[in-house]
Amino acid sequence: MKNNIKESGFIALITLILVAILSIAPFYNTKNEKKDPETYEYTLSTEIQIQKEKVDPIKSFASLNGVGIEEINEYKINKYYTNLSIKKENMLVNKIIKNKDKSTVDISNLLKKGMLTDFNNLIKVQAEIKYPLFITEALNKEETTKSYEFLDDGIMVYFSDFTTTPVYNEMTYVHLTCSLLKPYIDYECKEENDNLNPNAPVLNPKAKTIAITFDDGPNKNTTSVINTLKQNHMNATFFMIGSNVELYPNTVKELAENGNEIGSHTYSHKQLTKLKEEELTKDLQSTDEAIQKITGQTVSLIRPPYGSISDTLKKELNYSFILWSIDTEDWKHKDVQKTVDIILEEVEDGDIILLHDIHYTTSEALKLVLPELYIRGYQVVTVSKLAELKGISLEKNTIYRNFK
Ligand code: NI
Repeated sequence: MKNNIKESGFIALITLILVAILSIAPFYNTKNEKKDPETYEYTLSTEIQIQKEKVDPIKSFASLNGVGIEEINEYKINKYYTNLSIKKENMLVNKIIKNKDKSTVDISNLLKKGMLTDFNNLIKVQAEIKYPLFITEALNKEETTKSYEFLDDGIMVYFSDFTTTPVYNEMTYVHLTCSLLKPYIDYECKEENDNLNPNAPVLNPKAKTIAITFDDGPNKNTTSVINTLKQNHMNATFFMIGSNVELYPNTVKELAENGNEIGSHTYSHKQLTKLKEEELTKDLQSTDEAIQKITGQTVSLIRPPYGSISDTLKKELNYSFILWSIDTEDWKHKDVQKTVDIILEEVEDGDIILLHDIHYTTSEALKLVLPELYIRGYQVVTVSKLAELKGISLEKNTIYRNFK
């Protein structure tokens, strides 16, 4: 028994010692770790970095858009706001943040009080200056996204999430210059050197360019043709019949005021080669006078009816004779789709296209073909402008069929 008591006392003591060691051991461990200053500081700074990453708006904006931070353009708008932007394929994405707490804000926070509607209207008007109607109609829809790139000389407003018919896939934007922006927003915008509106379309001599010409008008259908040209920011040359000019003076005036060109198609659409000299002179003079009386323009271009001109007449008559390189035969088939197809299948840089504005089917075809020509990169201008862009000075007593 005595031995047993001794034995159990010993076991209890051993157990107590073991428990004590085990319970102290973790303290020793912790103490040892904390004693190493390098390890301790390293752990702490990693934790802070992770926290920072979570709130860094540039990093989160970059990762959200799947790009590196070096691709983000950071622009300090003023002491309160910074704009982050990146260009992606044919669009731009942006985010405006408050410098103070890095929170995201809307463009309306930057505008002067109550100016959001007017600011949006400014964008709309500038888009209408720059783009044809079939594009601006899509840009003005609610689902269209606007993104902003702040620059030293103004704001670029980029559009995305819109669809047009036909499809327009180019980078779509307007430039709001400092002078345009002044009433709406305060930021350090540097006044541009000239007062040219960068949204105003400029003809490019290197771009594909064609002239569309209309014969036999004007009549009541011509107004529709003028409107379609206007909506697409394009111009044309109208070879008019003198007697029709006298019937539709307001149409002739409107047409000229919109930058279109007027040429002669004789007074009564008679074949020039069949007229006697006296009759010919009278016919051409009365046409030119009728046009000049309304527009103030001197007529220098003529399209002889049926394209019929003799060498003698060419030498005698003081005009530039404008024929054509694409004959749509719109007057013959009066088929909207056929007119469109002929133009789109045959069109090439420098062409002169023959149409007749007096037919409803032709004006309907124009509504379809002009946006398509725009998409394909064609500038549609008057005959004189086409010659000018191609570096050709129009001579009298000369026949032109195209400017290729
Ligand atoms: Ni004709």
